[in-house]
Amino acid sequence: MIALACDHTGLDLKREIAGMLDEMGLEWKDFGTFEPVSCDYPLYGYRAAKAVADGECDRGILICGTGIGIGIAASKVKGTRVCTCSDVYSAELSKRHNNSNILTMGARVVGVDLAKMIARHWLTAEFEGGRHQRRVDMITAIEEGAFSC
Ligand code: RB5
Repeated sequence: MIALACDHTGLDLKREIAGMLDEMGLEWKDFGTFEPVSCDYPLYGYRAAKAVADGECDRGILICGTGIGIGIAASKVKGTRVCTCSDVYSAELSKRHNNSNILTMGARVVGVDLAKMIARHWLTAEFEGGRHQRRVDMITAIEEGAFSC
């Protein structure tokens, strides 16, 4: 299950991404917003990120104007590994090396076709584990206040 969320700037792109997920046969749940009215991205970013962190959803795709605000908000939820991407290479590597579980994009930054391509690469890439697992574990330890160096 993929969590979707956006603010008012991301409604159209979120609908396009949802349509692509349908074509890919992937289930999704929309955590809002649902109206083209100015709203606060942390609310929707938090709801979707919490669903990922709690295991209700495996992954999330979140959209605001730049992808940055909603990404910062989502990254404050323990258990998330958020990547804000506007290129395919970063999106794919964020999964293969960082095991990212939330992708954010900016509706005012990327066009619809590029956003779909980014999301498709991110969704189909596999975490490589190995030395990357060790590094992800270090990130988790930092998050839990259990890291020292
Ligand atoms: C809304 O105007 C805009 O600030 C928001 O969509 C996002 O880009 C914030 O990071």
